[in-house]
Amino acid sequence: MPDLSRDSSHAQHTELVQHTERVQHTERVQKVLARAGVGSRRVCDVLVSTGRVCVNGVAAVPGQRIDPYGDRVEVDGVPISSRPGLVYILLNKPAGVVSTTADPQGRPTVSELVPGETRLFPVGRLDAATEGLIIMTNDGDLAYRLTHPSHGVEKEYLVAVGTTPSPASLRRLREGVVLDGTMTSPAKVGVLSPGTLRIIIHEGRNRQVRRMCEAIGYPVERLVRTRIGELSDPALAPGKWRYLSAEEVLGLSRAAYR
Ligand code: URA
Repeated sequence: MPDLSRDSSHAQHTELVQHTERVQHTERVQKVLARAGVGSRRVCDVLVSTGRVCVNGVAAVPGQRIDPYGDRVEVDGVPISSRPGLVYILLNKPAGVVSTTADPQGRPTVSELVPGETRLFPVGRLDAATEGLIIMTNDGDLAYRLTHPSHGVEKEYLVAVGTTPSPASLRRLREGVVLDGTMTSPAKVGVLSPGTLRIIIHEGRNRQVRRMCEAIGYPVERLVRTRIGELSDPALAPGKWRYLSAEEVLGLSRAAYR
């Protein structure tokens, strides 16, 4: 028979410790907003005093202390990542690296290319052969929103297909092709140079760009993701990474929660 009284007093003790830690870790709402990149302290003061900031759905008041770990903070209805310790990295994945944290086949992984103190997860996937930008984070909420098909942010790809597709084939790409029995959403497609396309999509179906191009008879020879939402960085060399700025994180939040 388990000792329930001991279990419950242990649970109460743990709850009390967690409560105390939370109370001790409260911060002024303006400080949390400024850290999240919403603006200077002064701008954040104005946002709070004009009622544009909500904490757990209720308009915040100037000087209000909040729990950055547990409270939901929104500016104009857009949730703000308020927890300290969240890490956001932009990695330029080289070809041959898999976008998982571990690979049973022993191939190099994206996790090996970024700092390891915090366990970071790739947001969505790029095929092993695909190069380009991928976000790594420990912010599960934002990652979920960014990859969810209904909130999918725009992703831009440079796509080498050997020869320039005919105007009719380009139109099919733009209007949508059938993959797994359903049409792809309309895509933006431009010709960058002979045989090289720029394709912008916001869905994230498995191997979508490669399969779209295969469907019109132009298999992809090289695929590079050059933009995620507003994020791009031509100076970031393959295999290199950098932290996102607070403004960039906020931009992603806006895109994911729009
Ligand atoms: N589309 C693909 O086909 N592959 C990727 O890696 C990303 C988008």
